[in-house]
Amino acid sequence: MALSTSSAITLNINGEKHALPVDHRTTLLDALRERLDLTGTKKGCDQGQCGACTVLLDGRRTVSCLQLAVAAEGREITTIEGVADGEQLHPVQQAFLDLDGYQCGYCTPGQICSAIAVIEEHAAGWPSAATADVRPGPQVPPLTAEEIRERMSGNLCRCGAYVSIVRAVARAAGAKATGDAEVTA
Ligand code: FES
Ligand code: FES
Repeated sequence: MALSTSSAITLNINGEKHALPVDHRTTLLDALRERLDLTGTKKGCDQGQCGACTVLLDGRRTVSCLQLAVAAEGREITTIEGVADGEQLHPVQQAFLDLDGYQCGYCTPGQICSAIAVIEEHAAGWPSAATADVRPGPQVPPLTAEEIRERMSGNLCRCGAYVSIVRAVARAAGAKATGDAEVTA
């Protein structure tokens, strides 16, 4: 008996359910871009190296080119199209806009999705390779530029907008920590 090579799945993307049949080999990235016309998520390397395809799965960042669409069924998927609150940009989007955290913009959706998760991971006390003292404690160490560079190191930018990207992430993190959207990085 021949095994089926496709399945009908339902993906929960940005709070909306999308039913579609997919070949089992279809990546989440291709399902988003080619099947659902959600082209904000970009394809760079298509092999997990550049971060352009980063989306959030249940709030945690993942490279969607290495994720099978069938494996994403039942998860909460957030793409760049879903991070704003209606007309109100997400603080990370606003910071990228205000501080020129991009040039051509191709890597930017992935950078922004990654940065949203970085800020959450840091606030939850998750250490990075740049964290000097990884012992759990009541105080979360500051999200320094070195920390941001390390935590964002999976997101490459061929335009080299890194200086502005670090500033934008720092500003958005500061705004979240203080509730002040005008914190200066
Ligand atoms: S396109 Fe997925 S990591 Fe490069
Ligand atoms: S802004 Fe062009 S690749 Fe990053």
